[in-house]
Amino acid sequence: MSGSTPPAREGAPSKDSRPSPAGNQGRILSGIKPTGNLHLGNYLGAIRNWVAMQNNFECLFCVVDLHAITAEKIEPAELTRATREVAAGYIAAGIDPAQAALFVQSHVPAHAELAWVFNCVARLGWLNRMTQFKDKAGKNREAASAGLYVYPNLMAADILLYKATHVPVGEDQKQHVELTRDIAQKFNHDYATNLFVLPEPVIQGAGTRVMSLRDGTKKMSKSDGGSDYAVIYMTDDADSIAQKIRKATTDPNPLPESVAGLEGRAEAANLLNIYAALTGQTLEQAVAEQAGQQFSQFKAKLTETAVAVLGPINAEMKRLMDDPEEIDRALKRGAEKAKAIAGPVLAEAYKTVGFLPSA
Ligand code: TYM
Repeated sequence: MSGSTPPAREGAPSKDSRPSPAGNQGRILSGIKPTGNLHLGNYLGAIRNWVAMQNNFECLFCVVDLHAITAEKIEPAELTRATREVAAGYIAAGIDPAQAALFVQSHVPAHAELAWVFNCVARLGWLNRMTQFKDKAGKNREAASAGLYVYPNLMAADILLYKATHVPVGEDQKQHVELTRDIAQKFNHDYATNLFVLPEPVIQGAGTRVMSLRDGTKKMSKSDGGSDYAVIYMTDDADSIAQKIRKATTDPNPLPESVAGLEGRAEAANLLNIYAALTGQTLEQAVAEQAGQQFSQFKAKLTETAVAVLGPINAEMKRLMDDPEEIDRALKRGAEKAKAIAGPVLAEAYKTVGFLPSA
C-alpha cells in the first residue's frame, strides 16, 4: 500500500474487502518505550503479533524515545542503551529490518511537530479520561510532567503521520488508540478534510495482558518497582526464567478442567495465558491440554516452553548489542523510509491548518 492511497474516513478497510498479497492488507505502526528492559508482556502483547503480521502489512516499528522521557527521569546513557536494546529486541524476535521500517521516534522530527497540532485538537476532557495518565501520575498529579499529560497526543501523531490502518498493541493501549481515532476524526471534521485515516487497534492472542508473576491482578510492567521475580525479561537467561517461573505465585489446587474454573484464580489464569500465547494456542486449548495438572508439572512445561521461545531471541539480542553498528544501520535506513512517508503528511496537515509554507 502506498502512502498516497486515499484515506478512508470510516477507518481501516475490512480485511475481507481487500486483496491480500504480501503487504497489501494495510499499514501497521506500533512502538515500544525504551524504559527498562523489554519483558514478556511486550513480547506476547506486541512484538510477537507484529512478527506474525509483517508479511501481510506494510510495517513501521518505532522505538518511542520521546515518550520515554515523560515519566521518571532516565539516565541519558541508559536511554541510549535501552533505545538500541529495544531495536535489537525487534530484530531478534523476527522483525525483518529490510522489509519493515524500524526507526527511532526522535529521528523523525515530524512526530513532535504533528503532536503540537494535536495538542491543539485534543480536548482536556479527553486527556483527563486517560487511565494510563492516572496510573502513571499516581496520587501526586501536580508533580507529573506536562509531557505525561499530552503523551496520547504524541502517540496519535506517531500513528496518524503514517495513515496507519492497524495498530497492534497490548490491551493497555486500547484507550490511546481510541483517542487517536477521536483526534483524527475531530481534525478531519474541523478542517473539512479526510487527511487522517482512523486506525484499528489490533489486540489479539492470549498474551494481550500479561500479569505479574507475583501478583496475578497486577500488569507485568517494566517500571514494576516490586520483586525482581515478577517480570520475565527478554534478556533473561534460561536459569533466570526457570527460577522466576518456579517462584511464581500459585494456589494449592490443580489446574482446572475448563476456563470457567479459572474464576478467582488470577495467578493460574495468568500462567495459562502465558503458556497459551507462547505455544500459539487459545486459552481454551491450553486449559484443555493442562487440565488436572499440578502446578509443579505445569511450571516445568511452561519453563521448557518459555526457554525454547526466548532463548534464541535472547542470544540474538546479545549478538546485536555487541554490534551496535548493525542496529544503527537498520535504524538509519528505517528513519529514511519513515521520513519519506511522514514528511508529506505533516506538510499536508500544516497546509490544512493554514500555516504559511516556508519559502
Ligand atoms: P509500552 O512501551 O508500555 O509497551 C509496548 C507494547 O507492549 C504492550 N505491553 C503489554 N502487553 C501485554 N501484557 C503486558 N503486561 C504488557 N505491557 C506492555 C503494550 O500494550 C504495547 O503494545 N504508548 C505505548 C508506546 C507507543 C505506541 C505508539 C504504541 C507510543 N506510540 C504508537 C503503538 C502505536 C507504550 O507505552 O507502550
